[in-house]
Amino acid sequence: TAAHRRRDDLAGVRVLVTAGGTREPIDPVRFLGNRSSGKMGFALAAAAAARGAEVQLVAAPTSLTTPPGVIRTDVTTALDMHAAVFDRVADVDVVVKAAAVADFRPVTAAGSKLKKSAGAPRLELVPNPDILADLGERRRGGHAQPLLVGFAAETDDVEAYGRDKLARKNADLLVVNDVGASDAGFGVDTNRVVILGRDGARTEVGLATKRAVAERILDAVVDLLPAGPA
Ligand code: CTP
Ligand code: CA
Repeated sequence: TAAHRRRDDLAGVRVLVTAGGTREPIDPVRFLGNRSSGKMGFALAAAAAARGAEVQLVAAPTSLTTPPGVIRTDVTTALDMHAAVFDRVADVDVVVKAAAVADFRPVTAAGSKLKKSAGAPRLELVPNPDILADLGERRRGGHAQPLLVGFAAETDDVEAYGRDKLARKNADLLVVNDVGASDAGFGVDTNRVVILGRDGARTEVGLATKRAVAERILDAVVDLLPAGPA
């Protein structure tokens, strides 16, 4: 199909994708997490590899298999993901932050399983670092690269929240999806997004497979890449 057409417009481009939802341990068996399935990020990694990119995938726990040609690193927590991304950032051209990063983590994880009979635990939470915002900050510090693509799953005024995140995190593209709808977003194979760019650029992608949405996001990335061989 058109969405799966083989193109080489990302040949030689080094792309780092983060996917899945981080897990923040409470004790050895429990965690704070979120509803990300990882499907959008894995679709992006697969599509980028098929278009010739050198793809690294930093994956929080998911049940998905690694797409062909993709180098995968598994992480669990937001702190792990932050470290894995910053270890690689100097050697990539594009970072796609499809992962759902837990905003907070328990200040400590209990070493032993918490027992119900001890009563409801009082979880003290601390904020996790914002990986995308830290990448944006690093660029303000004089690094031109990499190109930064963020995501936002929103309800209510989805585009306004997206615009705000694009600016605040100093990203180049921000992909917003309305998770109020049941046919798009969490867990399902389809999505409907708006791709926001700097200076008001806006591309609507109607309901489509996550793979087809990934191809459209990569089209927007290709448009922003410096022309010609590196
Ligand atoms: N993100 C990140 N690190 C975090 C939180 C978010 O890198 N600690 C990235 C996500 O991967 C995504 C983008 O920032 O690409 C937006 O994530 P989102 O959760 O929508 O934004 P927040 O700034 O956390 O705002 P909120 O959850 O309050 O809407
Ligand atoms: Ca968040």
